[in-house]
Amino acid sequence: MNKILLSVTALCIIGTGLAYSHTDATGIVKERMDAMEDMGDKSKIVANMFKGKTEFNAAALSDAADTFVQHGTSMSALFPDTDASRTGSKTEALPKIWDEWREFTTMVEDFISSSEALQATIKGTEDIGTLKKAFFKTTKNCSSCHKRFRKPKD
Ligand code: HEC
Repeated sequence: MNKILLSVTALCIIGTGLAYSHTDATGIVKERMDAMEDMGDKSKIVANMFKGKTEFNAAALSDAADTFVQHGTSMSALFPDTDASRTGSKTEALPKIWDEWREFTTMVEDFISSSEALQATIKGTEDIGTLKKAFFKTTKNCSSCHKRFRKPKD
């Protein structure tokens, strides 16, 4: 009985995971979701290192910083003001992005700057505390943009 319950629960969790990953998205919305998810995956790996859940790995940190700069640089282009971009594929992007485009692109610029600063910190030091601070300063830019420009999770 318990075994059956457990597998049902496991299936539900997997189902939710799939829905959340938006595998059914297409076009420009899929492109930016893929870029965001790539950053999300790499952030999670590094956050776990800094929280002591996994061992520190300098290569994984560099990889995350490089990924942030790469996706940050193309981010504004992934939010064109078109119907597909505004309302396609169950996007979680808020219309505010295009009403407040200057603020949005300023947040993108801030994100790029802090990601480049993180790259420079990685080159300049091996001190874990300093690296940790620079990393979480960068990921703060992720959450402040999500708070303002992405639909809140229900
Ligand atoms: C300048 C704004 C901005 C920045 C900076 C930003 N994001 Fe996002 N992010 C968004 C928006 C808007 C969406 C919703 C996109 C959509 O649904 O079309 C999103 C969606 C996501 C998603 C969900 C993707 C999906 O499949 O639905 C993840 C994960 C994510 N972001 C992670 C990150 C991480 C990690 C960072 C920082 C390393 C980051 N984002 C930086 C604006 C931003």
